[in-house]
Amino acid sequence: MMVAVDGPAGAGKSTVARRLAERLGFRYLDTGAMYRALTWLAIREGVPLGEGEPLGKLAEANPVEIDENGRVFIAGVDVTAAIRKARIDRDVPLVARHPEVRRVLRERQRELAEQGDAVIEGRDIGTVVVPDAEVKVYLTADPEIRARRRLAERPEIGPDALATDLRLRDESDAARMEPADDAVQIDTTHLDVEDVVARIEKLVRERLAV
Ligand code: CDP
Repeated sequence: MMVAVDGPAGAGKSTVARRLAERLGFRYLDTGAMYRALTWLAIREGVPLGEGEPLGKLAEANPVEIDENGRVFIAGVDVTAAIRKARIDRDVPLVARHPEVRRVLRERQRELAEQGDAVIEGRDIGTVVVPDAEVKVYLTADPEIRARRRLAERPEIGPDALATDLRLRDESDAARMEPADDAVQIDTTHLDVEDVVARIEKLVRERLAV
């Protein structure tokens, strides 16, 4: 069983997807962490973020590993904390927009997805990575709420920088942020995490009962 959780930054994807995976006993796959890790490595290696071909090669040569505790590794380095910094927030869409990069990371995501029951979180999971996922949800929330949630996670960023980050990221990610036709859209503006998790869990249990 595959559960795809897509949506924009700050809609609550990560918290919901992680909690849902725990509840169901499924694996949790954070595809954003893979784009973030590659961005971290590209900066360290001095690979220009505007050039798709070398970035694709870098991705191919350095598969991202995520262990059972959710720690993220690339090129032998634990980058779990480093990939949540503002610099990476800002630069990751520049890397993620290249088809050469997406081809490599999507292939890896499919391999990981195929290893059994999983909740997979991202932007293009229900549309491109696993279009045959049995359950697809697309989480949204009002921009103000999304900014507030993100600020709670990253107090060091500051409200102005944060609003800009979310707006710029929405714009640059827009091309990949269409909900799948068969995704269930959930507006999380007025819902807490447990409500959202419970709704998706219900969809999963309904599918499992078929
Ligand atoms: O948690 P948040 O939504 O802020 O970000 P994320 O899921 O960690 O994703 C970070 C960035 O990676 C996004 O802004 C996209 O540019 C890119 N991304 C993508 O292009 N495709 C995915 N499946 C996941 C992330």
